[in-house]
This record gives sequence, structure tokens and C-alpha cells, in this order.
Amino acid sequence: MPIALYVNIDHVATLRQARGTQYPDPVWAAALCELAGADGITVHLREDRRHIQDRDLHLLRQTVRGTLNLEIAPLPELIDLACALKPNIVTLVPERRQERTTEGGLNVAAQGKELEPLVRRLQQAGISVSLFIAPDLVQVRAAEQLKVPRIELHTGYYCEATLVHGQQEVAKAELERLAIAAETGVGLGLHIAAGHGLDYPNVRPVAALPGVEELNIGHAVVARAVMVGMQAAVREMIEILRTVS
Ligand code: PXP
Repeated sequence: MPIALYVNIDHVATLRQARGTQYPDPVWAAALCELAGADGITVHLREDRRHIQDRDLHLLRQTVRGTLNLEIAPLPELIDLACALKPNIVTLVPERRQERTTEGGLNVAAQGKELEPLVRRLQQAGISVSLFIAPDLVQVRAAEQLKVPRIELHTGYYCEATLVHGQQEVAKAELERLAIAAETGVGLGLHIAAGHGLDYPNVRPVAALPGVEELNIGHAVVARAVMVGMQAAVREMIEILRTVS
């Protein structure tokens, strides 16, 4: 099976919110991503609504033809919203108001008790739940204990190392950490996604990791789309992914 690409379109909404206009519309962007071959769309509804708005979610639920993956913090009001919306996947992510973007993974090992009722509510609504975690075996095992079907491994540590000159050894070690986490997850019966910070030059080794089935990629694709157009940006990413699967 080729690896699936879910394009995160949050930053199309960031551009819109910067001026309070109606454009660019993330709903249009989602349609263009799918027309270009993306397997699905990912959006993060942040508590402060800094980019994606509730209106976007409702329209996306009606228009996205592939997988709709909604990222939310594990907060009761957002769980209510997700249960009513019924995206295909809800990915639970940690969220801090001050952060520029999601900074770390969920500490499932420490927060299992609080997460469990929220996970069950989503599952009762027929939603496939994923947990965004660091590539740590403690977290992978804790996710399996919570009986979720899927996890998303945080690739941010690997990606950061690929950006800094002279950090190749760190990047290699982070990639190995991702490989071990993915292998362990697969062994526990979990579906494995990965994402955060992935870009055209650094995506290939992650896409090639055994067991990784889905990638969530946002900022790099939207940034390229500003230059070459959304469909071209998505197609370029898919071309790279095809060379590894
Ligand atoms: N996966 C998760 C859980 C995220 O929170 C984000 C950022 O919203 C992404 C993937 C996409 O990250 P990026 O925009 O760096 O590609």
C-alpha cells in the first residue's frame, strides 16, 4: 500500500485570519488538495480559533471526500464538538495557548486516566481515535493500553535536526527512534501515522520507515502552494512519496 498523504490546511486559514477576510478559503484548498491526489485533509481546531474556524469544519465535513482528520486538545467541549461532527479520525494533541505550533506529544503514560473517558466518548460516536505522541516506547505502550487503534508519531525532533548544519548524527538518531517506535506500535497492532515539520527535502526517510501508513503535512505544502499553487505543491509531495512506496 502506498503511504497516505493527509494535507494539513491550517495555514491557509492563518493567511485568511491575518486580515479577517473570507479568502483564502481552506475549504477550497481542501478540494484542490484532494483533486491533486491527497488521501485526506487534516485540520487542527485550536481552542483559541487562531486559524481554523467552526464554519470551516462544518463545510469540510460536507465536502471532503477522503479521510477527514481533526486534531483537537483533549478538552470536553472540543470532544463534544467532534462527536457531533464525526470526522473519520480525531487526533488528540496537547495544546498550549502561547505556543506557535504543537510543541510536544501527549503524555499518555501520565494522563491515561484523564484521557480514557474522552477516548471512549469519541469511539462511541464511531470515530477512530489517534494519539499524537513522541516516538518513545513508554508512550507507544501507554497508547496501546488505552485501546486506541492508531498513533501519530511526532517527527518534529527529527525535522529540526535536519534543518541544522552539522546535526546529521542527531537526525539519524531521531530517525532511528521513529523507526523503533513505529515497529513497536505495529507489533502492538497499532496503525502508525507521522507528522510535524515534514518538508520536501526531509520527508523521504520518514515515508520509508516500515509500518508508517499515513503522513500529516501542513506548513511546507501550504508554503510551497503560495509559490506554485496548491495542486502543484501537493503533486510534488506525492511524487516524492511514490519514490519510496
Ligand atoms: N501533526 C500534528 C499532530 C500537528 O499538530 C501538526 C501541526 O498542526 C502537523 C501534523 C502538521 O505539521 P506541519 O504543519 O509542521 O507539517
